Amino acid sequence: MKEKVLQKFGELHGNTEGVSVYFAPGRVNMIGEHTDYNGGHVFPCALTIGTYMAVRKREDRKLTFYSMNFEDLGVLESSIDDIKPEKSAGWTNYPKGVIWAFQGKGMNPDCGLDIVLYGNIPNGSGLSSSASLEVVTGYMLKDQFGFDVSNVDIALIGQYSENQFNGMNCGIMDQFASAMGKKDNAIFLDTATLKYEYAPLVLADAKVMVTNSNVKHSLVGSDYNTRRAESEAALKDLQGVIDVKTLGDLSIEEFEAHKGAIKDETCAKRAKHAVYENQRTIRAVEALKNNDIALFGKLMNESHVSLRDDYAVSCDEIDVLVEEAWKIDGVVGSRITGGGFGGCTVSIVKNDAVDTFIHQVGSAYKARTGKTADFYVVEIGAGPSKL
Ligand code: GLA
Repeated sequence: MKEKVLQKFGELHGNTEGVSVYFAPGRVNMIGEHTDYNGGHVFPCALTIGTYMAVRKREDRKLTFYSMNFEDLGVLESSIDDIKPEKSAGWTNYPKGVIWAFQGKGMNPDCGLDIVLYGNIPNGSGLSSSASLEVVTGYMLKDQFGFDVSNVDIALIGQYSENQFNGMNCGIMDQFASAMGKKDNAIFLDTATLKYEYAPLVLADAKVMVTNSNVKHSLVGSDYNTRRAESEAALKDLQGVIDVKTLGDLSIEEFEAHKGAIKDETCAKRAKHAVYENQRTIRAVEALKNNDIALFGKLMNESHVSLRDDYAVSCDEIDVLVEEAWKIDGVVGSRITGGGFGGCTVSIVKNDAVDTFIHQVGSAYKARTGKTADFYVVEIGAGPSKL
């Protein structure tokens, strides 16, 4: 990949002298969905696929962007002195948003940049191609200009830029998973405090599989922001009767005792998901530590039902993938992963059932939806790096 992006850089800019190449990973979330902006826990891991960025400083203040994933857009130009979100700027709004956020914190790049990108995360699959693009940009800026930021800062800046520059009110999970990834480990993160702990996720007799429904999920301007608003409305009602900062502060018992305070029925369902999912995530990580994979899988299944029925972020195609997975002996657990409204499922599948899983789920999906699913065995990778 490094060679691929370097070669393109050479073609576009004459040579590759003094060019640096950086990488940041995408992520898959095992459990803890739509809990991150509700002050709850998440359990994602970084992937070995992600975004590669070749960069060289320029003599002037120009920024040039080229993505091998959007070749028809050609080279897009702007200036570091005039960064603002523009619809026509397409994907460049993500790296621009990060540069803008650094500038807002007084970290000003003192020259322009030529940037060439290549990403090997399927677009719109819900595996955080945008977060990996934000994190690789932050990591590159730190390295090129010597800015004093940690990887956690890079994650926070990425999230801030996505919220403020790109209008998507995401939580911290994706950027954190990309910036703090560790090979063969998932990250158990408390989003209320940013305290985290790594948990090895190498299973002796099973694989973590990602299945792409190939239904593109687009979160900007989607129901995602609505879900967030519904959760916040529920929290506000609850705060009238119990002293809590976030839905993640509530135990199941507390929620059940006070849920009558939530005025709107839909908001009550959203809050129920957020509270139960947070508790499920805590239990799931405990189960993993106790080597109780069966319980972990059962909690994944419950997570799906809750996301489907109470949080309403699944879609027909994803439900088909999950239902078909559940039918197979050797599938320990299966659920939608990521923001939802399309994208991927994540499943734990016993080694000797992997072939059956791919074959049976694949053909049933085709028969029931007319669409083709893609299957990947997850390799858990590390955070950002200079290659
Ligand atoms: C998207 C967001 C994350 C998180 C998930 C749902 O991926 O970017 O912050 O909210 O959805 O768990």
